[in-house]
Amino acid sequence: MPHTDLADERLAGLRQRLQGLAYGGDYNPEQWPADTWREDIHLMREAGVNLVTVGVFSWGLLEPRPGVFDFGWLDEVMDLLAEGGVRVDLATPTAAPPSWLAHEHPETLPVDAEGRKIAFGARVHFCPSSPVYRYHAARITERLAERYAGHPALAMWHVGNEYVGFGCHCPVSVAHFRRWLADRYGTVDALNDAWGTAFWGQRYDSFDHIGTPAARNRLVSGPNPGQLLDFARFSDTASLECFIAERDIIRRHTPDLPVTTNFMGSFKHLDYWRWAAAEDVVSLDIYAKPYDPEGQLLAAYNFDLMRSLRGGKPWLMLESATGNNLTGGRNSARPAGQLRVRSLQAVARGADSVMFFQWRASRAGAERFHSAMVPHGGTRTRTWREAVALGHDVARLADLVGGSCDPTDVAMLWDWENWWALEAPDHPSSDLKFTTGILDHYRPLWHANIPVDFAHPHADLSRYRLVIVPNLYLVDDAAADNITAYVRGGGHLLMSYFSGIVDQHDRVRPGGHPGAFRDLLGIDIDELNPLQIGEAYELHHAGHTGTATDWQDIILLNGAEPLATYTDGEQKGQPAATRHRFGTGTATYLGTSPDPETMHRLVLDCATGAGVTPVMDTPDGVEAVHRRAADGTDHLFLLNHTPEEAIVDLDPALSWSVDLLNGHAAVADRLRLPPFGAVVLRHKTH
Ligand code: GAL
Repeated sequence: MPHTDLADERLAGLRQRLQGLAYGGDYNPEQWPADTWREDIHLMREAGVNLVTVGVFSWGLLEPRPGVFDFGWLDEVMDLLAEGGVRVDLATPTAAPPSWLAHEHPETLPVDAEGRKIAFGARVHFCPSSPVYRYHAARITERLAERYAGHPALAMWHVGNEYVGFGCHCPVSVAHFRRWLADRYGTVDALNDAWGTAFWGQRYDSFDHIGTPAARNRLVSGPNPGQLLDFARFSDTASLECFIAERDIIRRHTPDLPVTTNFMGSFKHLDYWRWAAAEDVVSLDIYAKPYDPEGQLLAAYNFDLMRSLRGGKPWLMLESATGNNLTGGRNSARPAGQLRVRSLQAVARGADSVMFFQWRASRAGAERFHSAMVPHGGTRTRTWREAVALGHDVARLADLVGGSCDPTDVAMLWDWENWWALEAPDHPSSDLKFTTGILDHYRPLWHANIPVDFAHPHADLSRYRLVIVPNLYLVDDAAADNITAYVRGGGHLLMSYFSGIVDQHDRVRPGGHPGAFRDLLGIDIDELNPLQIGEAYELHHAGHTGTATDWQDIILLNGAEPLATYTDGEQKGQPAATRHRFGTGTATYLGTSPDPETMHRLVLDCATGAGVTPVMDTPDGVEAVHRRAADGTDHLFLLNHTPEEAIVDLDPALSWSVDLLNGHAAVADRLRLPPFGAVVLRHKTH
């Protein structure tokens, strides 16, 4: 049976056990006496908690000395949770190796690019290539899996915690990197060619002479780009190997249970396309700041990314914050009522769970001021009351579990390898940021209620009306062919500057920019031209005048038509954006970074031209998203992210019935959403 079918079966089993969406959070009972555990379970029942993640950092307590195990407390916690009807997402504790491992095997501690050994004292202090770390991680994983397989509380597995893809520079990692390079290239000559080592006489005579890339302050000038990129790929792989090793141990003991590890959303150092394929379900930790005016937009794009990683299947929000999330600086409290709308937003965008870090606020330790479902003030607090109410809301949405979001008409390409290469040093501009480019294109769509998928550049794009490609600097031939074929076959493309520049080894494509896409876009770029800070030009697009900053490609038309034109400066009269009919599709190119209003117009112009329609019109700050129940019934989420009342007009032709959250059986055509209010309307089937 193919992998995905097995994953689907494991998830069906999880749904069966939970009987609805998952609600709960990280539960770290080892911080509390056993009496508190009983109170916890009582309170979990009150809040409707049905799933908790246990044991994430418990290695030092479960194995206090090498090979000496103490599962007593965990046995008791697991039994109490089972009795209380709360299921467990059991973690392997391998993100926090015990002090004895660091002490007896200091070689398991990672080394940074400047040669400094990371110290014991926080967490994630392990070298992912270390066979000693891997041996001990495998042993505790095996012991946990054999002990709790078949335990009535056990519902799923959580491997490690937030792998970071630490690029380790210890001797073991260097040797591992060399083996990885030898596997990848076969011969050192192939590597020399890929890395362009003829420049500055960097030619290698043997894989044994290659090191990990040194920190910039240990080099007299810029590092080799091919080496940097391969080290990023290697570091991702080294961590993924750790995950897979533990997953495989778990699978031997509990082949029917889903295995996941928690992702950090738009996190740079791991290629989550690869990770998602290795697990049964994608899960996310999201910490969008409560007071960030764009918090809900940042959350939305992370949610869309998670949904996209496994082709639109439901995913799990394993961690979020009931209140502040200690990100440094001033961590304000969440405004009253915002918790509910922010949590439901994840469900609207495909999550099968609402979960938090953590259940009960710690008294000690680094995160003692992080918010929790049970705050320091216990059940007398507003957060507790909101957490209980939210539990009831989540229970009311039980029909949605396992259901999907509708296929979207718009895809935005997302490639981690491009991210690594785009932000590497020694480029025309050091200010290009991958996620800035993504968000600049995503923002107008979010405000217009146009749903977006993210897609890998190799993915089948044929079902999308519009494909958006922000700053795809690195592109291999397969991806370039895929994008070109998409447009030739009638697709609509919006591509922005500094795309198609280098191949998969970060070598400039021959023949001038944008090497991979000159024919497709019908342009040549005479000069790549980053603008100085403060330098701005006027541009004109469809009767609107806007401002261009940051970048200004000097574009020569070679088949394309101008779409937006500069109206001042040296480039006056020259194109800022172009459009080219290619095959039966169109390729729009944006050679600058316009102000938000102009960007909004350009992106929506492309969407409209491609026949994309929004879910509906809503006042700004009110999000409208469709999600289906498992039986296919359509649901409309209307989410007011603002602290003001909002009025939303529904299309009377679309008969909605039943507000699942607020219990109204008949839905008026005009809805009043209170501050941070939310409704979930079910489509009338008959
Ligand atoms: C996550 C992590 C949790 C907790 C949380 C606090 O990144 O997985 O263990 O530290 O952040 O914000």
